[in-house]
Amino acid sequence: MKTIIEPFKIKSVEPIRFTTKDERIDILKHAGYNPFLIRADDVLIDLLTDSGTSAMSSKQWAGIMDGDESYAGSRSFYKFELAVKKITGMKFIIPTHQGRAAEKILFSITGGKGKYFPNNTHFDTTRANIEFSGAEAVDLLNETGKHPELRADFKGNMDVEKLEEFIKNTGKENIPFCMITITNNSGGGQPVSMKNIRDTKEICNKYGIPLILDACRFAENAYFIKKREPGYSNKSALEIAQEMFSYSDGVTMSAKKDALVNIGGFLALNDESLAMKCRNLLIVTEGFPTYGGLAGRDLEAIAQGLEEILDEHYLEYRIRSIEYLGERLVDAGVPIIEPPGGHAIYLDAKRFLSHISPEEFPGQSIVAALYIEGGIRSVEIGSVMFGKYDKNGKLIPPPMELVRLAVPRRVYTQSHIDYVLEIIIEVFKRRNSLKGYKIIYEAPMLRHFTARFEEIS
Ligand code: F0G
Repeated sequence: MKTIIEPFKIKSVEPIRFTTKDERIDILKHAGYNPFLIRADDVLIDLLTDSGTSAMSSKQWAGIMDGDESYAGSRSFYKFELAVKKITGMKFIIPTHQGRAAEKILFSITGGKGKYFPNNTHFDTTRANIEFSGAEAVDLLNETGKHPELRADFKGNMDVEKLEEFIKNTGKENIPFCMITITNNSGGGQPVSMKNIRDTKEICNKYGIPLILDACRFAENAYFIKKREPGYSNKSALEIAQEMFSYSDGVTMSAKKDALVNIGGFLALNDESLAMKCRNLLIVTEGFPTYGGLAGRDLEAIAQGLEEILDEHYLEYRIRSIEYLGERLVDAGVPIIEPPGGHAIYLDAKRFLSHISPEEFPGQSIVAALYIEGGIRSVEIGSVMFGKYDKNGKLIPPPMELVRLAVPRRVYTQSHIDYVLEIIIEVFKRRNSLKGYKIIYEAPMLRHFTARFEEIS
């Protein structure tokens, strides 16, 4: 088999700034050992997120120049609307400034006290928007998805038996809709199979509950289906995406992922009366329905990005580049969530640093070491992000301690990835010398963004 190459040439470059290890020790100390508090200029390879960090194509930049900035009825809106309809088949397309704005509108209208929203795993902003409305967010991930070391094709799948049981116990009248997140970001970027989407839809139909897809990474999910699910190898990524959406009644989307743009999102619905309510709220919170919170040029870039994301040379390269990083790490004995997902590698900090207990934040220790060793920025997804306290102030850790290395789309080349590998392996080799951390400042909510730490000596 030949090397799978980056399916693009580079026309415009952005230099990255090199720092010395001593400088990084100082920078990280001043940032309270929290990489969210570092200036991006002090980062060499930024794997904090794959969201809004894509490199746009020359055609997208051309679209930026061509954007129609009319307040109402912009030409760019109709182009955007057509691109979204082609893939999702939805009747009503509502632009928003990013994914969580679509969530906020949808849950403001459908949520509230006494309501429940099941999902394979809710992303943080989805959960936060549900809870902010007074409703409850429920995760019903299948069992294999909960075990980092287990290899399976579709670890993002919904547990459909649990879903039916949940609907029976909760009452269908208390469940405005069910969701599936593709791919399952919080569960390791793992895909959901077509069969699972179909089975979920069947159960939803039985109880008259609509199904909404959180579709940020729909193209990556479609490509996994093509590669792994029987019956799909000869179908195009577009056909697979269309089939996935055909089982749903609506879509929330952060265009900052699989629409290859730096800002944007949308809500797409089939139900006219719900769409009208959402549009009316959109006018209050985001803007007129033909621009949402976006400029015409942003809508142009999304329309073009949605075309490019389904190119199978792109998807082959994308999925392979993450898999390449994962394979090499596994070969070196580094524990990760297996198999690698679509947009990120998740280091399993519990196994990586078995001498550091969750109370001393093993994930944060790896994040700090990767920055000091090689200027790589990653993010802890474990007790810092999701830990809660009991009545006595004792930490209640989440089930997993992870470090996410999210790969921006079309930004880094294979040698960047090889460098990342070298640094992770270097840190892994001297893992026994790594120390735990304690929190010296934390905010009452979403503490991981602003918390400050100290190394435990
Ligand atoms: N749903 C999923 C599955 C996401 O991953 C995100 C964002 C959102 C919704 C919200 O979209 O950021 O445009 O408002 N995920 C980013 C990340 C932030 O780093 O994983 P948004």
